[in-house]
Amino acid sequence: MLEMTERKMDVDTIRAALKTHVFGARIEYRVSVTSTNDIAKQLAETGAPEGTVVCAEEQTAGRGRMQRSWTAPAYSSILTSIILRPSLQPEQMGRLGMAFGLGLADAVQQETGLNALLKWPNDLVINGKKCAGMLAEADLVGRRIDYVVVGIGLNVNWNAASLQGAPTAPTSIADELGHPFPREALLASFLNHSEQYYTRVGKGQSLRDEWSQRCETLGHEIRAVTPWGEETGKAEDVNEVGSLLLRRADGSLVELAAADVSLHTG
Ligand code: BTN
Repeated sequence: MLEMTERKMDVDTIRAALKTHVFGARIEYRVSVTSTNDIAKQLAETGAPEGTVVCAEEQTAGRGRMQRSWTAPAYSSILTSIILRPSLQPEQMGRLGMAFGLGLADAVQQETGLNALLKWPNDLVINGKKCAGMLAEADLVGRRIDYVVVGIGLNVNWNAASLQGAPTAPTSIADELGHPFPREALLASFLNHSEQYYTRVGKGQSLRDEWSQRCETLGHEIRAVTPWGEETGKAEDVNEVGSLLLRRADGSLVELAAADVSLHTG
């Protein structure tokens, strides 16, 4: 059984490890919130600048994709949201998911040595189990993005494998390493790596190759549950905005912007 302690995140330690220009220049630390995405949205509405980071020890109404909830014991994990004000068209938003997925994977791999992969659309998986998820929420004014909040939940110091009812088998950094790991180092590294990828997105550079190389989904027969129904086929590629290109059995190609994906065995 892993020995876990209830220790607050040390924001000064996070700040000291930052190599960023924008991300984390303002860090809003809270003990308990409904959802860090909610707090980040409120701050964005009142003019908080790009790069503002909200992090909390506990969420009482944490949200996942597809109307699911996101659960993590207090003081155990990274529950964080970043405010962005990108100069992108709404249909390019998927590029942000690619930037933050890559940033998270690089951070986890570099800090822990674990083999961190991405599962389309943007789950972080270690040894085939989900260790983190991402929920991006945008506010549009007409066709212009006013702000985007990117929320990340990374399971760190709790026995996530014990969680019942998750669509993908869960895990945590501690589950995989066999011992707890300092959350500050992970959060700072995530911000450092993500800012670099985000800067590249701002310059119009492609992240497609790097994202594809990190992705464990491509090349596999999968079942994708979309908001509009189910699709099965071979996950062939991702495009520049992170949509999945799925080859159906009849040879046709379908582009999926969002779905839940599982390996298709029969
Ligand atoms: C998913 O995989 O379904 C996405 C999970 C995203 C969870 C994070 S935790 C921090 C932020 N606040 C939320 O309410 N959700 C995101």
